[in-house]
Amino acid sequence: MTVGVCYFPEHWPRERWERDVEQMAEAGFSYVRMAEFSWSRIEPEPGEIELSWLEEAVSLIGDHGMEAVLCTPTATPPKWLVDKEPGILQEEPDGTTRQYGSRRHYCFNSPEYREQTRRIVSVMAERFADNPHVAGWQTDNEYGCHETIRCWCDDCAAAFREWLSDAYGDVESLNEAWGTTFWSQHLRSFDEVDPPRHTAAEHHPSRLLDYYRFSAESAVDYNAIHTELLREANDDWFVAHNFMGDFDSCDVYRFADDLDLITWDSYPTGFAQDRRPGAASADELRAGDPDQVGMNHDLYRGAKQQPFWVMEQQPGDVNWPPYAPQPGEGAMRLWAHHAVAHGADEVLYFRWRRCREGQEQYHAGLRKQDGSPDRGYRDADRTATELAELDLDPVDADVAVLHDYDNLWATSIQPHAPDWEYWTHMRQYYAALRARSVQADVVHPDWDLSGYDAIVAPALHLVDEELAGALESRVEDGAELLLTVRSGAKDTSNKLPDVPAPGPLADLVGATVDQHESVPEQLDRRVSYDGETYGYRTFAEWLAPDGATAVGSHVGGVGDGRAAVTEHEFGAGHVTYCGVWPESGLADAVVADMLERADVPHSERLPTGVRATQRDGYTWVTNFTSDPVAVTVPDDARWLVGGETVGAFDAAVYEGAAADLSLDQR
Ligand code: GLA
Repeated sequence: MTVGVCYFPEHWPRERWERDVEQMAEAGFSYVRMAEFSWSRIEPEPGEIELSWLEEAVSLIGDHGMEAVLCTPTATPPKWLVDKEPGILQEEPDGTTRQYGSRRHYCFNSPEYREQTRRIVSVMAERFADNPHVAGWQTDNEYGCHETIRCWCDDCAAAFREWLSDAYGDVESLNEAWGTTFWSQHLRSFDEVDPPRHTAAEHHPSRLLDYYRFSAESAVDYNAIHTELLREANDDWFVAHNFMGDFDSCDVYRFADDLDLITWDSYPTGFAQDRRPGAASADELRAGDPDQVGMNHDLYRGAKQQPFWVMEQQPGDVNWPPYAPQPGEGAMRLWAHHAVAHGADEVLYFRWRRCREGQEQYHAGLRKQDGSPDRGYRDADRTATELAELDLDPVDADVAVLHDYDNLWATSIQPHAPDWEYWTHMRQYYAALRARSVQADVVHPDWDLSGYDAIVAPALHLVDEELAGALESRVEDGAELLLTVRSGAKDTSNKLPDVPAPGPLADLVGATVDQHESVPEQLDRRVSYDGETYGYRTFAEWLAPDGATAVGSHVGGVGDGRAAVTEHEFGAGHVTYCGVWPESGLADAVVADMLERADVPHSERLPTGVRATQRDGYTWVTNFTSDPVAVTVPDDARWLVGGETVGAFDAAVYEGAAADLSLDQR
């Protein structure tokens, strides 16, 4: 397990490169990523290719025992290209053009840009095809960053019509699938379909969902230009992309087959501020939320059910969140350990040195702008040494958490409550698993679920007979399944089935949904479960058991006494349906009962911010809080890093099982 860094030689005088690369090697780095934003440096004039500088940087890296990861430079087309082909630019729903001057200024469906991409990727791939120091490539950079997966330009309009024709065959099938009689939206031909541009009221939910699907697949289609050319040049290279945290519009599962390696970019203190409801706590401002970061690790591991990389690890203070606090002392080391525990094989810090120019001057590097070591460098150096001793097998998770962007999109199109948010709902159950020191793969429902003893399916909203059948067979074989609110409420066209929710899941659940409601804090939001009373939030259902046993009931409110949680024996397994969005106490109780039934090893419930994560017989104790924590481990456990007192923003590693850990109540 090693550490690396993202480097921009083009930002620095050539005479500085040798010392930079020496210092990277001294810190024990293995990989150096370069070139993602270098098109105007690679091709300063149309047709004038300058790659010798990049070849020199690659050689320096190779000469110091490290390997280069190069990037195709298409995230930032040069100004001469935009002036030559202004049609490559994207448009907003109201027709506003997303102009040149920042980044990601191109449309995935622009024929002209696809041609320019083929040209520049071919030139780079051929140039480095026989270079022994290039280990692999990252395609472009963070597809969709700055909300650029979706575009409403005329190229997208034409491509959407073609996509619909391929998907539905004839326009009557489209009318039937969407339900276009409503509000006089019947279509006579695919030519009548436009992108969902600016309207007075909300769009048709089925049309919007298909537009989100089309947009995500446009990025996948564009990415295939890169992967095909890179593999033609040298099929020994790995081809990767760097995805983002809690990101809605870019569907990693749709990319999975065409990438050898999934990587993502982890900025914990930023994510805690800009993509979670509610204010970040003081500790989260210093180290982030381990379950928010952990769920992304497990999503990008689950996307291909194999190890992943963190291609960009936060190195210190970052410029883009609302606030830019200095991370806690040791946080940069904590994050790298946490990533490896969750299955990362490599962690590269973004960036080597704070940049003196451009939009990211207020973004730290491992070195300061004068080249002197910054806080992150010392953490990275120490972590590289600690991890170098480890050669770990992949994570072997007992539990799967099902995640599907189509469900995210459909429930965000009709949230039915201002505080409905798919990631947050999902994370309520994920955090309950993690608080019990259970590893979970976050996987698409269509992935192979045969290896999991327990399956958690948060808001499994769009369900067809095929998915219901696959889950039935897993439960019949003995798996434990936990379904949550809004599961089975829609078909895959985002229409209500002609039976009550949970639709095709009804036999499995042994109950149907009699009523649903979204509930603000002014209303009664309590349920009884296993002799205790718990709170819930946002969304609730009144269940009508039909074979299942009601194990939880609404307390108070209009639904007083109605079933809220049901349990149903099905074949050799059981299905729990939790018909409320549980507060953490109820989520823990329901999850713990499922783990007991599934016989999945788990620890006592750990406090917020303290997590135990097992990989290949080793357990990481990670403390994302500012208070040291004392743990007790089995007598035969061997400490590799640290010991039983885990300091603030610290990580410790022992050889032993996570489930055997307990907090020392000394
Ligand atoms: C993303 C991008 C990088 C940089 C960082 C800043 O991860 O990939 O180019 O902008 O954010 O944190």
